[in-house]
Amino acid sequence: MDNDSRLFEYAGQFRILRQVARGGMATVYEAEQLGPAGFTKQIALKIIHDRYARQPEWLQLFIDEAKLSADLVHGNIVQIYQLGQMDAEFFIAMEFIKGVTLRALIDRHRQLGRPMGPALAAYIASRVCRALDFAHNFVDRRGRRLDIVHRDVSPGNVLLTWDGHVKLGDFGIAKAKTMADPAAQRPLMMGKKHYMSPEQILGGQVDWRSDVFTMGIVLFELFALRPLFTEDETNAAIDEVVVAPIPDVARYIPDIDPALEALFRAALSKSPERRPSAADFGRVLDQFCVLHREPGSPERLQAHLAELFPDSYSPPTEQAPTAGAGGQTAPSERSRPSLVRRLLGLK
Ligand SMILES: Nc1ncnc2c1ncn2[C@@H]1O[C@H](COP(=O)(O)OP(=O)(O)O)[C@@H](O)[C@H]1O
Ligand SMILES: [Mg+2]
Repeated sequence: MDNDSRLFEYAGQFRILRQVARGGMATVYEAEQLGPAGFTKQIALKIIHDRYARQPEWLQLFIDEAKLSADLVHGNIVQIYQLGQMDAEFFIAMEFIKGVTLRALIDRHRQLGRPMGPALAAYIASRVCRALDFAHNFVDRRGRRLDIVHRDVSPGNVLLTWDGHVKLGDFGIAKAKTMADPAAQRPLMMGKKHYMSPEQILGGQVDWRSDVFTMGIVLFELFALRPLFTEDETNAAIDEVVVAPIPDVARYIPDIDPALEALFRAALSKSPERRPSAADFGRVLDQFCVLHREPGSPERLQAHLAELFPDSYSPPTEQAPTAGAGGQTAPSERSRPSLVRRLLGLK
């Protein structure tokens, strides 16, 4: 019998296994959804902290997060299953992502003093762009465009599965045009100031183009392994995004490709009209990989995560053991290039 004290039943239908992360507003747990005849499904539970649940404005944000993302079913978005309530407590059940955050991947590279490589950086960013493009252009069941803006795109909200997929999560302060917006009065209380567009940090009207600016910030960090904006004091933080000229990214990214430099300039433009759509942002990155004959792929990211996180790496598939082989193998190691070449009719 399992008598581990960390296991406890929740809301009559879940078993909480462990705490994954404790954020400002909510705690995320790894859990199992329970069903009849021993049915279980691995899920994540995000439970809003008591003190926020008691304030209608914050509770509404949490409820909106679930309602807004419930039908955003896309391969690059963390899928929401349910908004639930237990007594006064509200929770969101969602797809459990086994892997690491993009924050952890960037930090690991920084620790090792090793760049991520343009192909991998472009692959990750292009998948986040697909998620954003889907949210930006999403139409609900009644055919209404919701004009969703995520507003909190940052490395901590991008999750990477061990098998190399990229998923955007945390629609906690995302907004559809149909919703009231508590961030309008207090822009700096919501979202992360180093990942805000000029219009967002000033508390102005934001639309999809604000997320595109933020993607430019995230892309910079993937390439440079350092944050683009760093000022902590509020006025200085506003200054560096709104007033200071766009930083010269080439100074921090040695040998940057001219196409990427142009992409940075467009995405980080202070005028929203000059920024590309999320879809075009992603296309430029994909094309960049094709031109350099280095397409990113889930297999590649998986192999990379296996190498960088050897202690925690645990993908959902396992290669059948071969004589002498032990432990987990990433897909690139499982490949038989000679057989692949023969099947393609190559020598
Ligand atoms: N579905 C999930 N599966 C696994 N881990 C998750 C999941 N959702 C969130 N997390 C982890 O919890 C952290 C906080 O979750 P997030 O939704 O970003 O909430 P917050 O509003 O606190 O930032 C994430 O950075 C990630 O490490
Ligand atoms: Mg978050």
